[in-house]
Amino acid sequence: MWILGIDTSCDDTGVGLVRDGSVVVNLVASQTLLHQRYGGVVPELASREHTQVIDGLVQQALTQAGIGVCDLELIAATRGPGLIGALLVGYTYGKGLAFALGKPFVAVHHLEGHIYAALAQHPEVEPPFLALVASGGHTHLFEVRSWGEYKLIGATLDDAAGEAFDKSARLLGLGYPGGPEIEKLARQGDASKVPLAVPLQGQEGFAFSFSGLKTAVARALEKGYAPADIAAKFQQVVVEHIVQVVTRAAQHTGLTTLLVTGGVAQNATLRARLQAAGLRLLFPPKGLATDNGAMIALAAWRTRSCIPQSQLSLPAAAYLPLSASNPT
Ligand code: KG4
Ligand code: ZN
Repeated sequence: MWILGIDTSCDDTGVGLVRDGSVVVNLVASQTLLHQRYGGVVPELASREHTQVIDGLVQQALTQAGIGVCDLELIAATRGPGLIGALLVGYTYGKGLAFALGKPFVAVHHLEGHIYAALAQHPEVEPPFLALVASGGHTHLFEVRSWGEYKLIGATLDDAAGEAFDKSARLLGLGYPGGPEIEKLARQGDASKVPLAVPLQGQEGFAFSFSGLKTAVARALEKGYAPADIAAKFQQVVVEHIVQVVTRAAQHTGLTTLLVTGGVAQNATLRARLQAAGLRLLFPPKGLATDNGAMIALAAWRTRSCIPQSQLSLPAAAYLPLSASNPT
């Protein structure tokens, strides 16, 4: 079964083709250069760029897979959450294609896509397990109870983890996206030289908080600490905060498998620290951690038996809690 997956929730146009649960083609047209000089994503520019490239990208994906548009058996696209103008481009394109071909359409939650990306190489994994989505827009910890059934355990009270990397990178004079830049600079720094506290220490719940760190980075710069040392400490503290919350959640729920996904899941220090925490870890393969279309097709594949095909009248949604997205 060929599934086309589309994601245009933010600044990347993602188009993927999945056949019987395996990723065959995954194309991402990045808009990083377009937004770089603004230090963040400009929504209107993102929508316009998606409109420019989406059709060509779908044609290119079909050519690479060696199939025609009529071979598609299901079309899946991100319904939300995200920038509404950006979402509408891929979501409406997907609906239109499904309608024209007379094929089923499935609306996918963006975070669901991230979760299923980390399962691409683990067909044996079955719920329940914990899933941490840490990206530029989200830091959400879920308990995946069964396919398509998610319970939110904890979320950020303010900035997302990736957003903290991006904002702190900007303060440190680094480029966008900030995560990989901070990771690179941190390798040359000494974290022990900068005093920065792990957020929300002593809490009994599962909340995250990152906005205070950004202020602490600004203050450390004012005090004259070296940018590389600040980057190293910032990264160490973010990672420690995440590790503390997820290990407490594992103890609380009794779940020992943790899926980590979203752009921040690419961070090598985070991966190494989590490995040391003694959990069974699932990470997305390279190319599937950041936003892409294949993850949307993978979500549609995994949930195809429990989530019905979507009505074409179902609107895109900028705000969309995952636990409420599937009426099953
Ligand atoms: O999942 P993603 O591509 O897009 C969103 O849905 O937001 O995540 C992008 C975010 C950015 O904030 C970026 O700085 C962060 O993920 N990121 C990283 C790393 N690579 C990307 N953060 C920390 N370390 C990394 N290596
Ligand atoms: Zn994302």
